Amino acid sequence: MKILVTGGLGFIGSHTVVELQNEGFEVIIIDNLSNSSIEVLDGISAITGVRPHFEKIDLKIKDDVIDFFQKYNDIAGVIHFAASKAVGESVQEPLMYYENNITTLVYLLQELTKLAQPNFIFSSSCTVYGQADELPITENAPVKPAESPYGNTKQIGEEIIGDTCKVNQNLKSIALRYFNPIGAHPSAEIGELPIGVPQNLVPYITQTAIGMREQLSVFGGDYPTPDGTCIRDYIHVVDLAKAHVVALQRLIEGKNRANYEVFNLGTGKGSSVLEAIQSFDRVSGKTLKYQIVGRREGDITAAYADTTKANDVLGWKTELTLDDAMASAWKWEQKIRNK
Ligand code: WQD
Repeated sequence: MKILVTGGLGFIGSHTVVELQNEGFEVIIIDNLSNSSIEVLDGISAITGVRPHFEKIDLKIKDDVIDFFQKYNDIAGVIHFAASKAVGESVQEPLMYYENNITTLVYLLQELTKLAQPNFIFSSSCTVYGQADELPITENAPVKPAESPYGNTKQIGEEIIGDTCKVNQNLKSIALRYFNPIGAHPSAEIGELPIGVPQNLVPYITQTAIGMREQLSVFGGDYPTPDGTCIRDYIHVVDLAKAHVVALQRLIEGKNRANYEVFNLGTGKGSSVLEAIQSFDRVSGKTLKYQIVGRREGDITAAYADTTKANDVLGWKTELTLDDAMASAWKWEQKIRNK
């Protein structure tokens, strides 16, 4: 079975391609290489022994999307990762985010609805909940006004898919709301490749430990949490990738209960920034240099998933720990810096 993975050379996309190949799927990757590297294909092949088919296509070019689906009209499913995802950048460049994250989704769905039995997995985010009123966060938690254009593109994307599914009963879709993906494949053949100064916590930790950054700034030590730092649900990217395969198989096998479903993907456990640092120190044997500074604009205090629906309905749960993820992130950092 042919599966299209858009953004398949990206962080979560590449790990999902590996898990799809492990399950015997034939994978076609579309990526415009705007925030990824062609060398990731080598990493995927090194792990699975199978080099995915790759097409450099920008999904903003409608005719190229049409041409692709005319060429590959036997696609059994699409997992859509291709999108811009930097919260801060989206505040500065809203139109670039709406064009890149929304227009591309529309073009993709326009072609998908022409297929006989389209199965569509959408990369969404827990950011749609904002600061949830209740923790842990279930899929029924209200979607709050987005704190950033990036978060808004995820909310709008989910609405577009829901509306499309209402009038296209043959279209089956699942939106996966990720909490905080971290870590790397245990082989250290693929991992996160942040461009420039990392915005996310874990790559900043590993770049500090490897000597690329002077020290980690912990954004806020005065939150209403046990140790004063923000709490997040850090999920190993390999666990997250496996969830995509389970979700796709759910649709292919017709196990879905509606033609649009939503699942939270997290560990169900919240960890503070200081606990994340302690985990890194534990698995690396290092003592990370950090200082607690002022809060970062837009950060929420705490978010972690209620995993009941993913466990009981989707039939998936995480198997890897925060320490596993930190150890894999550190191994990857050392590999790419050749240390
Ligand atoms: C985690 C915690 C920071 C960096 C974002 C997006 C989300 C998803 C994941 C795309 C926070 C603290 C961070 C640093 C720090 N992205 N931190 N020093 O903001 O929870 O989520 O990335 O899908 O949609 O919103 O992740 O890793 O940026 O921050 O103290 O140098 O680490 O304040 O508490 P976040 P993050």
